[in-house]
Amino acid sequence: MSNAPQIIAISNRKGGTGKSTVSVNLAAEFASLGRRVLLVDLDSQGHCAVGLGVKLNRDDLTAHSIFTDSEARLVDIIQETSFANLCLAPADQLFEHGSGKHDVHRLAQALAEEDIANRFDFVIVDTPPSHDALLLNALTAANWVLVPFIPHPLSYEGVRQLMRVLFKVMKEANPQLKILGFLPTNAADHIRQHRAVTTEVSQQFGAHRVLPSIRSDIRLAEAFAAGKPIMHYASNCRGAQDFAELAARLVLALT
Ligand SMILES: Nc1ncnc2c1ncn2[C@@H]1O[C@H](COP(=O)(O)OP(=O)(O)OP(=O)(O)O)[C@@H](O)[C@H]1O
Ligand SMILES: [Mg+2]
Repeated sequence: MSNAPQIIAISNRKGGTGKSTVSVNLAAEFASLGRRVLLVDLDSQGHCAVGLGVKLNRDDLTAHSIFTDSEARLVDIIQETSFANLCLAPADQLFEHGSGKHDVHRLAQALAEEDIANRFDFVIVDTPPSHDALLLNALTAANWVLVPFIPHPLSYEGVRQLMRVLFKVMKEANPQLKILGFLPTNAADHIRQHRAVTTEVSQQFGAHRVLPSIRSDIRLAEAFAAGKPIMHYASNCRGAQDFAELAARLVLALT
């Protein structure tokens, strides 16, 4: 039996749809369920370090080092966090998207190295909203893609754009890639437009692929700014309940 971790890319071609919030909180939930988790931040905004309260030193290696230095190895890059079972490969805030090497297999190769593959059960990759070599690397390395979307019409366009990239990657670089689900985030069920967009996503991509929503909860934004996953910040709030339920469901589906 292979020890390879399940690699999940969190992606949407639109910005601000909850990708980093989902990445950090899902990683923390999996870790609290006893799974060994590596969170890889490919977005130079560096939000994952913020959300986990990780302070970087100026000379720390970053996830982006593997694209600028062919000798760089993830084992030298990853950092422990203050949360058990949860490591981070932080982003380089100075990385210029579009720079570095354009080999779409670079992340897959770095994750396949024995000292990474044997050390983790799950790898979660937070991606930038841009259509660039970083997004292609994430989708090429991943077994699964999870697509957070805010249920309003513009966000649906981002989902459609991502699907085009996804089908191209499936055809050319990673035929194994599967859709883990479409995840409505920042959702308020009582808003009719939200329901309409979620229904449209269901009709386009299959109702079984639409996951239960992460409801809108200001506590999620507060927790992120405080450098803590929601379960460690306000464990009884709506956001914490929704992420706990999502993680339990996904862990069951993936193991
Ligand atoms: N369920 C939620 N309820 C309330 N606020 C949320 C929720 N999810 C995300 N937010 C807030 O919405 C904003 C965007 O979320 P986030 O940074 O996770 O999106 P993103 O897709 O990673 O953005 P980018 O494309 O810039 O990387 C943040 O301020 C975040 O705190
Ligand atoms: Mg983000």
